[in-house]
Amino acid sequence: MKVPREYDLILQGATGFTGRMAADELAKHAPPFFRWAIAGRSEERLKPIAEKHGVPFLVADASDPEAMSHLAARTKAVISCAGPFAVFGTPLVDACVEQATHYADLTGELPWMQKLINKHHEHCAERGITLIPASGFDSVPTDLCVHDFLRELNEKGLADGETAPPISGFYFVRGGFNGGTLHSGIALAEAGHSLKPAEMKTGRVPSLKRWFAPFLMAPVNEAIVQRTHQLENRMASYREFMLCKSRGEAVFLNTALKVISSLMGSRFGRFLFKRFGPKPGEGPSLEKIEAGFANLTLLAGPLESPALTQSYAWSGDPSNLITTRCLVQTGLALAADEAQRGGVLTPASALGDKLFQRLKNIDAVRTI
Ligand SMILES: NC(=O)c1ccc[n+]([C@@H]2O[C@H](COP(=O)([O-])OP(=O)(O)OC[C@H]3O[C@@H](n4cnc5c(N)ncnc54)[C@H](OP(=O)(O)O)[C@@H]3O)[C@@H](O)[C@H]2O)c1
Repeated sequence: MKVPREYDLILQGATGFTGRMAADELAKHAPPFFRWAIAGRSEERLKPIAEKHGVPFLVADASDPEAMSHLAARTKAVISCAGPFAVFGTPLVDACVEQATHYADLTGELPWMQKLINKHHEHCAERGITLIPASGFDSVPTDLCVHDFLRELNEKGLADGETAPPISGFYFVRGGFNGGTLHSGIALAEAGHSLKPAEMKTGRVPSLKRWFAPFLMAPVNEAIVQRTHQLENRMASYREFMLCKSRGEAVFLNTALKVISSLMGSRFGRFLFKRFGPKPGEGPSLEKIEAGFANLTLLAGPLESPALTQSYAWSGDPSNLITTRCLVQTGLALAADEAQRGGVLTPASALGDKLFQRLKNIDAVRTI
């Protein structure tokens, strides 16, 4: 980037549930003399957040390409919490590409990510512009943990750099649910996309003495890991599930997920979610956010006798604390020009060990 920019980082969508928390995280972790600002569509909602942190605010509607272009031209990097991204996100991404500004967001909307790859990957790869969609709970923890696990497998001689045994991931999570996430799911379903994990089954993990059920985030996390493998020229498969204490719990979760995905697929079901579910801007209580966690156990090879097992503990509620820690550290890394390359990338292929180290440094994750 040749022309000096006014800001190192702008946080777009700072007035939403995750946006407000991301602003708190940025205020906590921005290095000395770091120049950051917040942005959103409402001056009234931006002002108190800007005053709380003593930073400037920019009023810019996400649906206005010109406003997005001015925003992108003023900063080295942007992080965005203004979703659903398939609805509000495209003008900002286009503006970042046009202005050679690095970008990361919280999308889990795979069809939209595919559109970004088709439209921008080649150009960004040539120009060294780094775009990292899926920089929240989906899919930073999975992508970085699998990346770390593959390094361990290589160091122990259990993989040869390019090929590795199949990897299975099992999440044990506690946390709440945001209105913003629900409405992103509804927008996806309304556009005709299924939210069902590929494998709707339960089973046993003998080596962990536990059961597994399908995991709602698995389709996104598996696709992101798959893209990292492609970008890094690796041959490795990855499957992800929810870890359960008993067979009964696994069967219950499997049934609940089937009911939720078929309700999401019907107009009446979506009406019920809109009517009775959390609204945009709403999220869990602070107590629930702080008591939340996500433990991921990775196994290489057969479930009954894995060649290697490793567990990672992420602290905080996945939808909010883990998500905003991941997004903010990604933004700080992009602003510090830590990305290894340009393109529409994944967290591990863009920032890899550097991002993992940043998250370890703030105690967001530890190996157990
Ligand atoms: N990857 C993950 O793990 C993860 C976790 C949590 C959330 N998410 C995703 O992150 C997104 C935000 O979630 P949330 O819970 O924070 O939702 P939210 O509370 O509804 O926040 C949405 C934000 O988008 C802003 N926005 C909407 N339309 C806009 C426009 N035209 N111009 C500018 N800003 C606009 C809203 O501004 P106003 O305040 O003015 O309405 C608000 O700041 C959702 O898409 C959700 O699915 C992902």
